[in-house]
Amino acid sequence: MTIESLAPTDALPWHLRNNWAPVLDERTDFDLRVDGVIPPELEGTYVRTGPNPASGTSGHWFFGDGMLHGVRIANGKAEWYRNRFIQTPNISDPLDDPMAGMGDMTRGTGNTHVMPHNKELLCLEEGHWPWKVDAELNTLGYQNYDGALTCSMTAHPKVCPVTGELIAFSYLNPEPPFLNYIRVSAEGELLQLEGIELPNMVMMHDFNVTQNHVIFMDLPVCFDLAALETGLPFMFNRDAGARLGVMPRNGTNADVRWFEIDPCYVFHPVNAHEDGNTIVLHVSRQPEAFGSSNDDYAEVGRLWKWTIDLDAGVVTEEQVDDRPGDFGRVNDRMVGLDAQFGYVMAMAGEGNAEEPVYGSAFWKYDLRSGACTEHQLGKGVRGAEPVFAPATEEGGGEDEGWIISMIHDTDSDESRLVIIDAQNFSAPPVATIHLPRRVPYGAHGSWVPDTAMI
Ligand SMILES: [Fe+2]
Repeated sequence: MTIESLAPTDALPWHLRNNWAPVLDERTDFDLRVDGVIPPELEGTYVRTGPNPASGTSGHWFFGDGMLHGVRIANGKAEWYRNRFIQTPNISDPLDDPMAGMGDMTRGTGNTHVMPHNKELLCLEEGHWPWKVDAELNTLGYQNYDGALTCSMTAHPKVCPVTGELIAFSYLNPEPPFLNYIRVSAEGELLQLEGIELPNMVMMHDFNVTQNHVIFMDLPVCFDLAALETGLPFMFNRDAGARLGVMPRNGTNADVRWFEIDPCYVFHPVNAHEDGNTIVLHVSRQPEAFGSSNDDYAEVGRLWKWTIDLDAGVVTEEQVDDRPGDFGRVNDRMVGLDAQFGYVMAMAGEGNAEEPVYGSAFWKYDLRSGACTEHQLGKGVRGAEPVFAPATEEGGGEDEGWIISMIHDTDSDESRLVIIDAQNFSAPPVATIHLPRRVPYGAHGSWVPDTAMI
């Protein structure tokens, strides 16, 4: 489909309309206008990716070319804004059918997440190899760990704050075992690539790590070619059941213990940790996804707590909040550890399901007590993933730092980067950086301190 091929009476699909519409030019703007005071401790770059088709159109949101939006912050100033396409073969040599590029690992878009590891900035998308970019968002090439990574890699690897390892997995493998476990050393050496047996090929967007384990989520969004007509070849199938697979971080398929849970879907966990002989997971759980209604976004996640009792072999499932929220993050220093605080974006538009609707609030949860503090963005303002930027590299309180997010004001059509004091969460942002252009809604991103890249 192209925009030109649409009849005048055709409506554009949601992912090409309003603030989902791509921006096609690359800009560099210096010395951005700021309200408030940027904390002088912040020295680095906030960077976020998202689908942004270079041709101006794409058949499905998931297939848009990756575009990075970055804001450099140092010396109490917003030094620059840059947006750059991730320069992949999909831009230089586009395919008519993006599904045709599914088996070619160099065809990744990097449109889902961007994060630092081993002094590199990785742009990730779950069907292919990651792309590397430099600190000014110029594309360097793909990353396959000297050829050792022979399959795709999730867009949601975890970097262990203790070992520096990057821990990941790969699905979208058309042949059994349907899943691979991936472990990369802090120095960028692929240490493990293990086949993990699943009964079905399922969409596995994210997973969980703790200090000693990984927890796979075998949830029943199952490969189903018949569903391709409506967008993606996946369909929720409650009958397939749902299981959590617990494996030691250096384990193999033979070591995985599977635990039955109530069928559901989870795009994003918030965090996981070990507590004696239990494993505690906080996730945004929704009753289903990609169901038969064709409304892919009808269902929205809510914060749930899963406690896996490794002795009794059972999982306790508890809803923490009845309000919809997703895109949860913790201080990266607490990934896989007993984080007290999780930051979640409110979701709106439930039941009115044509598109995902980012909400107008952030929530800071005390994951131990369930208590929640709200930051209101204001009427007509849509949030984005809340990313934590610490005040100090080591030490300091877990919530000593700021939540950074790239928000959009639907009334003025302006985009802003807000910096919120995580310890004074309900107060107005300490700084608001006015971005020189509309930034389309996107996916995930990171605060990249200068020390992560040099
Ligand atoms: Fe995601």
